[in-house]
Amino acid sequence: MKAVRLALGVLSVALALWFAINVFIDPAPAQAARTFDSSVSCQDCHAEVYAEWEGSQHAMAWTNPAVRALSNDFANQDCIDCHAPRPIFVSGIGERVLPRASRRVEGVDCIACHLLPEQSDGTPGGMAGTITNDKAACRPIQRRELQRVEFCSGCHDQHETVRQWRASEWPARGEDCLSCHMPYRDGNPNLGRDHSCLGGNSLELLKSAVALRGSRVGEGWRIDVENVGAGHSFPTDERSRAADVFWRPLGEGQTWRHLYRFRSPYRFEVDIVDNLLLAHETRSIPLEDADAFGSVEVALFYKRSPHYENPDAPDPDREAVLVQSIVLEH
Ligand code: HEC
Ligand code: HEC
Ligand code: HEC
Ligand code: HEC
Ligand code: HEC
Repeated sequence: MKAVRLALGVLSVALALWFAINVFIDPAPAQAARTFDSSVSCQDCHAEVYAEWEGSQHAMAWTNPAVRALSNDFANQDCIDCHAPRPIFVSGIGERVLPRASRRVEGVDCIACHLLPEQSDGTPGGMAGTITNDKAACRPIQRRELQRVEFCSGCHDQHETVRQWRASEWPARGEDCLSCHMPYRDGNPNLGRDHSCLGGNSLELLKSAVALRGSRVGEGWRIDVENVGAGHSFPTDERSRAADVFWRPLGEGQTWRHLYRFRSPYRFEVDIVDNLLLAHETRSIPLEDADAFGSVEVALFYKRSPHYENPDAPDPDREAVLVQSIVLEH
């Protein structure tokens, strides 16, 4: 009898506590839904995401000098679409990306990727996210489309990156754009995704893309370049990207000699073949005339713009990024 009374007593105290917490001390009072007209306003509450995005290519899509030069300061209006886009969920996933008229300087910003269409009664649409929370001011709503490849492809398939990925083994291995370009912070799904969206601007990512090997064949060498880690062709996307294999005799003061180039040409460059290194492909390149020099060094360089200042004497150490190098001992 005593035990029952004690149990009841404990239960009623627990109930009273539960009631107090839930009714009198609401842990997260609901905030009014807000309209957002600049991504700067996300910074107060999402500082870490904002800092990552701020340093990304997405944030500089409108201000990037390379883009401004090629688009004639956006006098070519076709270029505005993906470099200062309207929200993808508003124009529609799988639909043509449309240009926006305001806050262009923010480029591909938080609002472009997250804002959902306004509801029929005029309430702000809220933000596509991984959770639904009707107390937060930005009203996140779980939308799975955000993590699908179709979401990136509206802008990223112009030069076939998405098609290259589809044709590879990566989809079957469960690796998509987000796995490699927006990985979970510290690999922990509870910490959310890294918004730096690194690409060819990251040496670490470039190094993970390719393996470089050399083997003895007859009187010379065979250089193998394998695409081990790019989820698509290497290099991908921009036609101005190039990867070059150079070699030089081992020793002081030797200059690099050009051996091979991977690149997708612009339409007017009719004399250049499209020879990007497909996902998982190994390209074998003969290096025959190096034997007279004894041991040699072979290196793969990456270039964000295709032309060397002096094409007859290219200086990759200064004008390109060294990705891999090997020494072949004779
Ligand atoms: C609204 C168009 C748009 C969408 C959607 C978009 N991007 Fe981008 N992305 C761009 C543009 C434009 C740039 C290049 C900006 C620049 O360099 O000036 C870029 C750059 C990048 C880069 C860096 C490339 C480099 O130059 O190194 C990566 C990586 C990237 N995006 C990944 C993604 C992923 C992953 C998704 C899907 C989650 C995505 N993007 C969605 C437009 C978009
Ligand atoms: C369909 C969407 C789309 C359109 C339209 C578009 N771009 Fe881009 N642009 C991208 C994406 C995505 C990237 C990032 C891919 C990459 O960096 O390889 C990019 C990257 C670039 C870059 C490379 C930036 C760098 O840092 O090297 C330049 C330059 C560029 N675009 C110029 C233009 C010009 C000029 C136009 C108009 C003729 C244009 N873009 C139209 C999607 C687009
Ligand atoms: C006043 C603070 C505040 C502002 C301003 C704000 N948010 Fe939020 N946001 C929150 C809170 C709180 C959550 C809910 C976090 C949770 O429940 O884990 C949230 C959640 C989200 C989510 C879903 C998170 C997830 O885990 O999937 C997204 C996406 C998001 N916000 C985007 C934005 C964007 C984009 C902006 C600017 C246009 C913005 N927010 C402005 C407070 C804010
Ligand atoms: C190129 C598109 C793109 C841009 C730009 C972008 N996001 Fe995201 N965001 C995503 C994707 C994709 C996810 C992951 C969705 C998933 O995992 O389901 C995400 C996830 C989030 C989340 C969930 C928690 C986390 O950290 O992953 C928040 C919060 C968020 N974004 C806020 C922002 C804010 C704030 C900005 C601007 C500073 C921003 N995003 C810019 C595409 C983008
Ligand atoms: C298995 C990992 C992996 C997957 C999956 C992957 N990528 Fe990449 N991506 C890389 C690596 C590594 C690089 C750097 C080498 C290169 O440029 O090919 C890169 C480079 C890029 C670049 C930068 C090109 C530039 O001009 O600097 C863009 C844009 C890009 N990827 C977009 C995508 C998109 C969109 C998807 C999804 C369809 C995707 N990636 C899937 C690994 C991956």
